[in-house]
Amino acid sequence: MDFELRPMTWAEAAAAETEALILLWPDAGPAGQGGPLVAWVEQAVRDGDLGAEVGHWLLAHRLPGVQARRVVAVRCGEGHAASVGRAVASAWAALQQAAPRTLTLVLAQADEAAASAAVQSIAAASYRYTTTLSKPKPRVLQRVVLAVPQAGSGLQRAVEWAAATVHGQELAKEWANRPANHARPVDLAEAAQALAGPGLQVEVLGPKDVERLGMGALLAVARGSREPLRFIVLRYQGAAKRAAPVVLVGKGITFDTGGISLKPAAEMDEMKFDMSGAAAVLGVFAALAQLRPAINVVGLIPACENMPGGAAIKPGDVVTSLSGQTIEILNTDAEGRLILCDALTYAQRFKPRALIDVATLTGACVIALGHVRSGLFANDEALAQALLAAGEAAQDPCWRLPLDDDYAEALKSRFADVANVGGRPAGAVTAAKFLQRFVGQVPWAHLDIAGTAWKSGKDKGATGRPVPLLLRYLLEQAGEAEPEQRGRPRRKGQA
Ligand code: BES
Ligand code: MN
Ligand code: ZN
Repeated sequence: MDFELRPMTWAEAAAAETEALILLWPDAGPAGQGGPLVAWVEQAVRDGDLGAEVGHWLLAHRLPGVQARRVVAVRCGEGHAASVGRAVASAWAALQQAAPRTLTLVLAQADEAAASAAVQSIAAASYRYTTTLSKPKPRVLQRVVLAVPQAGSGLQRAVEWAAATVHGQELAKEWANRPANHARPVDLAEAAQALAGPGLQVEVLGPKDVERLGMGALLAVARGSREPLRFIVLRYQGAAKRAAPVVLVGKGITFDTGGISLKPAAEMDEMKFDMSGAAAVLGVFAALAQLRPAINVVGLIPACENMPGGAAIKPGDVVTSLSGQTIEILNTDAEGRLILCDALTYAQRFKPRALIDVATLTGACVIALGHVRSGLFANDEALAQALLAAGEAAQDPCWRLPLDDDYAEALKSRFADVANVGGRPAGAVTAAKFLQRFVGQVPWAHLDIAGTAWKSGKDKGATGRPVPLLLRYLLEQAGEAEPEQRGRPRRKGQA
């Protein structure tokens, strides 16, 4: 899908060549504007035909003096980003049936956060999964114009970021949504390789390489499956070669049966989403390739299936991780931390400025935070604050949870250096404490996305989170903050 920012008055919007218009109507109205569109909405408001609440809409067909066949006016409250996002999604419902190829979103205020929200919201609302359907109904919408009163360079940049975020998020959704037999570790590796290009290198390790390295924890999980594991290394170079990278690690369990500690049957299909962390890392790299910010980023994806079988690990087995620490596997369903711990150890060789892992790690995190905020754990104050702020700005929020050493007591083992599970209390925290043993002194954060990576029920599907949060953080780190907050945006190669 293409996005374009265009300065336009509301009178000009009436003449715009587009199949459909969505008019984002703020409570104060689009000040000082005239023409048939404004006259129509004002009349509708006076007649009580456009409700007052955010998201209330009115559809008109072939309005006199308007080129677009369909026009939807929708309330967007005071025009803040969150309300604009909701309004766009709601208005799209009125147009879905007509399936326009081109759409113009008319904003009354040219605000960067609102423009980004509009872009992300129309993309999310019009997204369609198609890969494994014999008669797919692909997205028809091809081109979205954002019409604003004035288009400055800051706004232009914001729309570019939002479009790249959509691109990354949709790649993440695609891979997370694919069923496990269409998204095997080898398929994820291929998807990563497809991202390679100038400034973006991809290396893929297989079982033999991983064994040679000594990643005993990753190997232990992969043993139960016939699908061979992959360990994927992505390198994006946007800054000087010697500049320390941010390292992202994504959990890539392509299906989590629980292993010998088998999960119950109900909703087990949703464990195809257990590679959502990996998918998010792929999405971030897809967006980096498009935006080319001045920063170095490494992505690590340990990918395998967690299956029961004759070769599978058993409760009580002790394995040796890449770090040399031995682990007693008391529950084979706590596999995410096992594959992640070897990746976190591997990450040390890049001497990261920050190390961030992203994982659908614990059901306990879903109980703690539900489906609104991802869980955030960090051993570094500045990193925690940066990620919290990025989450708020990108409307992809997270919430910090504790890492007190007392929580690590639960992981004590008589037969190994550490056990892979504590008890039920604070399950999300004990999982994070397990990971922390493998990060050393590096500033590290762990995002538990178990509650936010996908939706269940009738809207079942991947969300593409936390691609927006991560991208926002990386762009901030690259010094490309929004002009509003930091002065003019810096482009690559500019002082
Ligand atoms: N992938 C799951 C976590 C999960 C469960 C995410 C449900 C989303 C919804 C993870 O591998 C897992 O099974 N965790 C166990 C850990 C337990 C055995 C300590 C869990 O949360 O039950
Ligand atoms: Mn599990
Ligand atoms: Zn899992």
